Amino acid sequence: MGVDVLLGLQWGDEGKGKIVDVLTPLYDVVARFQGGPNAGHTIEFEGKKFVLHTIPSGIFNPKCINIIGNGVIIDPAILQKEIINLESSGVEVTKNLFVSRKAHLILPSHRLIDAASEFSKGLQKIGSTLKGIGPTYTDKTARNGLRVGDVSVPDFFEKYTASKNRHLQTVAQLGFDYTNHMIDGFDFETYEKRWFASLELLKKLNHIDSEYFINDLLQKGKNVLAEGAQGSLLDVDFGSYPFVTSSNTTIAGVCSGLGIAPSKIGKVYGIFKAYCTRVGSGPFPTELLDADGENMRKTGNEFGSTTGRPRRCGWLDLPALNYAIMLNGVTDLIMMKADVLDGFKTINVAVAYQYEGKRIAYLPFDATDGKLVPVYSEITGWNCKVTELKEKDGLPVDLENYIHFIENEVKTPVTIVSTGPDRTQIVYR
Ligand code: GDP
Ligand code: IMO
Ligand code: MG
Repeated sequence: MGVDVLLGLQWGDEGKGKIVDVLTPLYDVVARFQGGPNAGHTIEFEGKKFVLHTIPSGIFNPKCINIIGNGVIIDPAILQKEIINLESSGVEVTKNLFVSRKAHLILPSHRLIDAASEFSKGLQKIGSTLKGIGPTYTDKTARNGLRVGDVSVPDFFEKYTASKNRHLQTVAQLGFDYTNHMIDGFDFETYEKRWFASLELLKKLNHIDSEYFINDLLQKGKNVLAEGAQGSLLDVDFGSYPFVTSSNTTIAGVCSGLGIAPSKIGKVYGIFKAYCTRVGSGPFPTELLDADGENMRKTGNEFGSTTGRPRRCGWLDLPALNYAIMLNGVTDLIMMKADVLDGFKTINVAVAYQYEGKRIAYLPFDATDGKLVPVYSEITGWNCKVTELKEKDGLPVDLENYIHFIENEVKTPVTIVSTGPDRTQIVYR
């Protein structure tokens, strides 16, 4: 028994929430290990749709223990909203949810710094989700953060105020007037009040020393699925820096974000879309700014689950996929949203780049927008609706050919293909 891991291999939004939900019956525990409410993980079943930001996607299975690990950062106000929303739909949350005492808190003033930082960058902005992710991880590594375990200590309010005052100085230094700035539709003072009110619910949740808790479960023979947020190309070390998030979204984040040893890791599921999307700024070599890109966006409903922003769309990028497979040691690939390409007569796949006059198949240090020009292979489309496929039908021959082409290039098997947003729209290979 050990820890299997599910990681996004692109720029996030690959469909991690759906697949974690699908795989949950095989596991006793689902654990988030990094990121925060910048994540938006969508799960659809029985005509219902949920978007989770902080809560692991195993929550819909009443037998599953769900852990928010020490590597995750939590905005209690967002968490409260998520819990209320789920419980009002009849989903039991608090019994099966366990929160690490060591997880750091996103304060309202972290969100102001995020906004101020983006404002000060102008056209160079990251395109952050403005959930306070960068500033909170900055405080963590600068050893200034507040953690879940701190909410019950007597001097919490003093610690909070000291942090807030420090943050407001930073905001002022960045030349940002926050008095008209809205956080999730509220001015700062109102949001701060709501944030404080939400601490009452946070205090009532099951607080754990997650590294002991999870290792005890492993010792008892339980199976754990670690649920990644974001994607490998947004990793703070290996992504298209600085257009990245502020955590390790790749495999190493599992060990530091849950307190488990690398030797405990078993399968590594790598999840990717049959094409690519990206939301926010940064290089995207295969981006399509034409009718094909628009078609993908419309058919795939490519609008952010967290911010509603239109996602940029483009062809599948195999050098980038290969990079993510290498970094994470992926054992099983999962291809999502095959149905979105149903209407394409031909499909392009980037197999290399032209870079400074040479053909290369790796990601160079300087991959700024426009420097990498994709070299495409053209594949025949399958021209039929795969959304209505049943497991026994198998996949259309041309879709199988597309998958074989990918497998051959990346030397890793595709074991699951997703053909629609619903839990049931799935084909195992
Ligand atoms: P995550 O962040 O990786 O969990 O992905 P998101 O939930 O942000 O975005 C994936 C979107 O695609 C969601 O709206 C899902 O409901 C939807 N989705 C997942 N799998 C499929 C699929 O195979 N086909 C289609 N058309 N949509 C899918
Ligand atoms: P899930 O888990 C897609 C992107 C933002 C921005 C950059 C930095 O749903 O796949 P941040 O808020 O972290 O400072 O933003 O990262 N980003 C995501 N893009 N899916 C996500 O999460 C993302 N989380 C952050 O758009 O470009
Ligand atoms: Mg998402």
